[in-house]
Amino acid sequence: SQPLTAPALRARKGTGSPIVAVTAYDAFHGQLLAEAGIDIALVGDSLGMVVQGHQTTLPVTLDEMVYHTRMVGRGTAGRVFLLADLPFGSYQSSPEEAVRSALRLVKEGGAQAVKLEGGKDYLRHVAAIVSSMIPVVGHLGLLPQRVHAMGGYRVAGRSPEEADRILREAKDLVDAGIFALVLEGIPRELAAGITREIPVPVIGIGAGPDTDGQVLVIHDLLGWTPEERRPRFARRFADGRGEALRALGDYSRAVKDRRFPTEEESFHSHAP
Ligand code: KIV
Ligand code: NA
Repeated sequence: SQPLTAPALRARKGTGSPIVAVTAYDAFHGQLLAEAGIDIALVGDSLGMVVQGHQTTLPVTLDEMVYHTRMVGRGTAGRVFLLADLPFGSYQSSPEEAVRSALRLVKEGGAQAVKLEGGKDYLRHVAAIVSSMIPVVGHLGLLPQRVHAMGGYRVAGRSPEEADRILREAKDLVDAGIFALVLEGIPRELAAGITREIPVPVIGIGAGPDTDGQVLVIHDLLGWTPEERRPRFARRFADGRGEALRALGDYSRAVKDRRFPTEEESFHSHAP
C-alpha cells in the first residue's frame, strides 16, 4: 500500500475509515506497527514516563525526541506515518523556536509531521511551523505538559465554559493550519461535538468512541504498564507484562535447575 501522507490522513475525515495510531519509541516498536498495518506511529513525549521512568513528560529533551524518532523511523521504514511530539521547552518561547525545533524533528529525526500541546497561546507557533512547510497536529484537552499549571492529570472540558473554550481553540487551530487534532481526556460528548464541527480528523485518547480515530500508548495497549498505573480509558489488548514475567521466571528456574541450555542449544568443538 501507498505510504501515508499528511494530506492523505486529512482526507480520511468523513470517510468512515477510522485512523489507527499507536505510540512508538524505538525501531522494534516501529517494526511491530508496520507489520500490524497501523496508520500512525506517534513518537510521543510520553516516552519520558513509559521509557525513561520520569513522573511526567517534562524532562524529555528535543535531542532525545530526535534520537527516538530516528530509531522508530528505521523500524517503520516508510510504512507507517511518522509523527513526533515537540517536547516541553522546545517551542513555548516563540514561533521561531517552534520552527527551529520542528525542523530538527523533520531533518534529523525523519518525522513527517510534528505535534504540539495547546490552543490560543500557540496559534502563531502552529502557523509559523506550517509556513515552514511542516505539517502540524494539534493537541487539546488534558495536556500532560501542563501538569504543574493544572495541578495534576484530570479530565478537561467538563464545565460548559471549558468545553466552549476547547471547541473554540480547536477551530482556531484549524485556521492556523493543523491537518489533524488529538483530543485527550475529555468527555465523549465534547469530543463528538468537536469531531462534527471541524474539517480535519480528530484522533482521540480517553475521548470516547465518536472521534475520527484513536491513539494509545503502546505500553498500555500491550499490557506492559503495571495495572495500577494504567489509565481507565486505555484498554489492555494483551497481558504483555504477565507473559514477560512468566518467561523470565521460567528462564530463571531453568538456569538454576541446569535445564537450560541443553545439548541442542550448545556448540561443540568437533563435528558430531
Ligand atoms: O505523548 C503521547 O503519547 C501523546 C499521546 C498520549 C497522544 O501525546
Ligand atoms: Na505527547
